[in-house]
Amino acid sequence: MSGPERAATVYRIAAIPGDGIGPEVVSAGRRVLDAAASRFGFALDWQELLVGGAAIDAYGVPIRDADLAACRAADAVYLGAVGGPKWDDPNAAVRPEQALFALRGGLELFANLRPVSAEPTLVDASTLRPEVVRGVDVLIVRELTGGLYFGRPSEERETPEGRVAVDTLWYTEQEIRRVVRLAFELARGRRKRLTSVDKANVLASSRLWRKVVEEVAPEFPDVSYEHRLVDATAMLLIRDPGSFDVIVTENLFGDILSDEAAMLTGSLGMLPSASVGARRTAHGLHGLYEPIHGSAPDIAGRDLANPIAAILSGAMLLRWSLGRADAATAIEAAVRSALTDGLRTTDLARVGARDREVRTLGTRAFADEVVARLADAQGTGHDPARTASPAGITADDAAVITATDTLLGMP
Ligand code: IPM
Ligand code: MG
Repeated sequence: MSGPERAATVYRIAAIPGDGIGPEVVSAGRRVLDAAASRFGFALDWQELLVGGAAIDAYGVPIRDADLAACRAADAVYLGAVGGPKWDDPNAAVRPEQALFALRGGLELFANLRPVSAEPTLVDASTLRPEVVRGVDVLIVRELTGGLYFGRPSEERETPEGRVAVDTLWYTEQEIRRVVRLAFELARGRRKRLTSVDKANVLASSRLWRKVVEEVAPEFPDVSYEHRLVDATAMLLIRDPGSFDVIVTENLFGDILSDEAAMLTGSLGMLPSASVGARRTAHGLHGLYEPIHGSAPDIAGRDLANPIAAILSGAMLLRWSLGRADAATAIEAAVRSALTDGLRTTDLARVGARDREVRTLGTRAFADEVVARLADAQGTGHDPARTASPAGITADDAAVITATDTLLGMP
């Protein structure tokens, strides 16, 4: 059949460079994503938004309603980092981080997926012994829209006895159930082991968490699970990180444990994340993708930031929100190839490559190397079946995240 050539699909991405090193890593990531798009025959239509400290300076608020709406309307959101000392006054009424909570809560992104795996080339980068970190492959599923981050009241008060402050830890069973169910699904697509982390010996919310895990577990008879207290988990993550597969936990515990787990890889600059909820677009799950690192104001504007976390977050975006597993895999392979060739950013400069010279590059030059390697990537072509997954998180999606997760642990 003859006819006009089918136009390449154009996906709409909201880009939030943010503050500190955010703009540098987002720009690096965008270049890699655009290169992958043209390599695989699609296009990305970027809408850049001022959010965070930059928005406080420009508009007086951390995020405008119109920009939140633009994020909702986009196929996915790609974020660098927000915050910095300029906006850190504890008495300030507006804080850059409020933008993150507006996005996470406003877009109902209740699950934050943080894959942590040890890249073989970089096992010497960790402060732990190589034999402890080798082969580590953990997926942390952090509840993202409940708990202390969202509980009200959360405020400081003057009382006759002096100042008091209150934060509220509050979870509904529905909030627990949906993230626990997702974690079981993801475990099913991996090594089928789930660790649910709580503080049930102290907190009522944790005891409800435990009950809900028990109620959900029978739906996943093929997944083995355990409950573990958060303090003991923090210890075991250092003693024997290889013993974990999927960890699911509430918001604050997940925040703390994921920074700890990041150190298994040697640098916070390595770790991507995806925040997703139940909503799907025409192409995949709606989601927000960001490095787990912060805005690193001390190195901002100096071309020193490691763009890998942002680049890999972009790969997660392609896979989860756009159904472009082919392009995502190519990006991951390109990053790996750059590392194997001895290319490093400053945070990893001391880590040798087995049989090659190590070369330290700036943010931009490292991204250039990834782009160059993408051009050589073997494409398998876009598989439309990938985008046609039904509503809800499927085992297919689980397989997809498994691929992301094992990226830095592949032989
Ligand atoms: C993270 C960050 C944020 C959080 C901060 C910046 C508010 O640490 O995404 O882990 O605590 O959620
Ligand atoms: Mg954190």
